[in-house]
Amino acid sequence: MEFNKVYNHERVTRKFTSRKVNEKLLAKIIQRAQLSPSLLNSQPWKVYMLTGDALSGLKKEVKTQIDNNVEPHEDFVKMLSLNWDSYPSQNMAAVGASQPYFFNNKMELFSESNNNMFNAQDVAFLTIPRTSPAWSVYDLGIFSQSIMLLALNEGLSIMPAHSMVSYPELVRKYCKIPEDELVGMAIGLGYQDNAAEVNDPKFYPDRLPFKKIYKLIK
Ligand SMILES: Cc1cc2nc3c(=O)[nH]c(=O)nc-3n(C[C@H](O)[C@H](O)[C@H](O)COP(=O)(O)O)c2cc1C
Repeated sequence: MEFNKVYNHERVTRKFTSRKVNEKLLAKIIQRAQLSPSLLNSQPWKVYMLTGDALSGLKKEVKTQIDNNVEPHEDFVKMLSLNWDSYPSQNMAAVGASQPYFFNNKMELFSESNNNMFNAQDVAFLTIPRTSPAWSVYDLGIFSQSIMLLALNEGLSIMPAHSMVSYPELVRKYCKIPEDELVGMAIGLGYQDNAAEVNDPKFYPDRLPFKKIYKLIK
């Protein structure tokens, strides 16, 4: 696909169809993403691709945690502060992910999709070593972006979501992730359900005015 088309298409999908992605295609995307740059070529990432019965089992157990009001407790909390500065807080209040759902009185669409892991049939769980500098979190972000652009290029839809790693002990159990790795992020990969209201482009959030984020200093 032409690069601009791939890039312009990078919006998240909050409901996938039940069609699974070809396993060889999933592997090809992750293998190509390995070309991503990382500090001193440290390549701190590992990928656990969860699918089939294992993914269904995880979804069921996560749903039970949510229904029992168990507080989310992502692994990254242990290494980084999860507090927000006022600048991103204001951005989230003004143009954040859930704002269009809120203003259209459809917050339940947003929460339901998250609570059901977006009906994703294939989810890449991404880890870094438990002992990692902040650089590795940065590197994982670059690696994630590579996975997403490569997936879009293959005609797939994407859903990066911290909500899918809110109960890391369950992810660890289903993916058999060793204790010395942090469960950082998850990316759902699949085919968008175009009939699902939650995917309606009217819910696409805006970006900040360019002037607010860019300064040229001479
Ligand atoms: C690190 C990260 C975590 C995210 N976590 C969630 C999430 O838990 N639930 C969700 O619905 N969207 C999540 N998103 C998607 C963002 O809300 C979305 O990318 C943003 O609102 C912009 O929308 P767009 O990508 O469709 O343009 C996440 C995105 C990133 C990069």
